[in-house]
Amino acid sequence: MRAIVVQKFGGPEVLQLDSDYPKPTLADNKVLLRVRCIGVNPVETYIRAGTYARLPQLPYIPGNDGAGTVEAVGSGVTAFKPGDRVFWTRPDNSGSYAEYCTSNESSIWSLPDSLTFEQGAALGVPYFTAYRALFAKCKAKPGDRVLIHGASGAVGLAAVQLAAARGVHVYGTAGTTEGMKLVQNSGAIEVFNHRSPDYVQQVQASNPGGFNGIVEMLANVNLAQDLEWLAPTGIACVVGCRGSIEINPRLMMGKESSVVGCALNSANEADWKEMGAAITAGIAKGHLKPIVSKVFPLADAASAHKEVIESTGAMGKVVLAVD
Ligand SMILES: NC(=O)c1ccc[n+]([C@@H]2O[C@H](COP(=O)([O-])OP(=O)(O)OC[C@H]3O[C@@H](n4cnc5c(N)ncnc54)[C@H](OP(=O)(O)O)[C@@H]3O)[C@@H](O)[C@H]2O)c1
Repeated sequence: MRAIVVQKFGGPEVLQLDSDYPKPTLADNKVLLRVRCIGVNPVETYIRAGTYARLPQLPYIPGNDGAGTVEAVGSGVTAFKPGDRVFWTRPDNSGSYAEYCTSNESSIWSLPDSLTFEQGAALGVPYFTAYRALFAKCKAKPGDRVLIHGASGAVGLAAVQLAAARGVHVYGTAGTTEGMKLVQNSGAIEVFNHRSPDYVQQVQASNPGGFNGIVEMLANVNLAQDLEWLAPTGIACVVGCRGSIEINPRLMMGKESSVVGCALNSANEADWKEMGAAITAGIAKGHLKPIVSKVFPLADAASAHKEVIESTGAMGKVVLAVD
């Protein structure tokens, strides 16, 4: 099969196409998946660069997220049959930057005909992370005011859609006019431009009472400000962070506010079940519609990694397509 194989950690150029890589073998508890599209996540660039806390053994095939069809199932698998349209996420995957991969059945969900394979590949890490950040960490409830700080990217747009569907009053930020429109169309009440010099004043003027929750995509830039913006007992959830920042913890005392971290990979089996059920229900009701910004061919995974980590002006999800 064709697969992207990483032989050594390094820049995007280490994502090399191998046209004759062995197809993964099927175990009793596994599903063999024919990959049609792959979701590219920032974490895959950190792993590829060798800078992430947990690294795979070399050589490895990157990727946990994807969408496609079931090719074959092991004897212990009951939930799926060959031909089913599905999407998947979680690290038990053998590596989804490939024509075929294997996964546990508990990491796979049905993909309805209403979504394309490109959209299916955009569900995994972004929607499950957004769900965990909003509902498990920020404890967002209908009627709460929640700010998605960095709402134009893959996790941000997923968070806006999930929050709006739950009756949360959702606000967002983006760095371009086009990104702001996308966030507004996804269900935000008001959108601010985090590159505008006076956006802090705009947010404050619009929300004098503060936010019950903030889902933060760039904590090393924004956490100090988030503490100012939290309402009494509000919760800021760190989803993305690319460095350190000085904060004033005193701002948390009077309001009894909190800062919590979010790590999708810390979810337990019950969490995954709950998240999968809520996300598939949201898709069925038409509330959740992943937005794909760019599609690259599998062979050009290096360009997809550059796009994910270097480009500004996010407009949803970067995806690889296997033709
Ligand atoms: N904790 C976890 O389990 C987990 C899971 C998934 C992702 N993540 C992390 O979450 C972050 C977002 O992931 P993603 O896939 O959504 O990436 P993405 O699609 O590249 O989106 C990045 C977002 O950050 C925004 N941004 C840029 N500058 C900002 C600023 N100064 N203030 C606020 N937002 C800003 C971008 O907006 P513009 O481009 O419009 O400026 C865009 O909305 C990444 O750091 C990723 O590693 C963590």
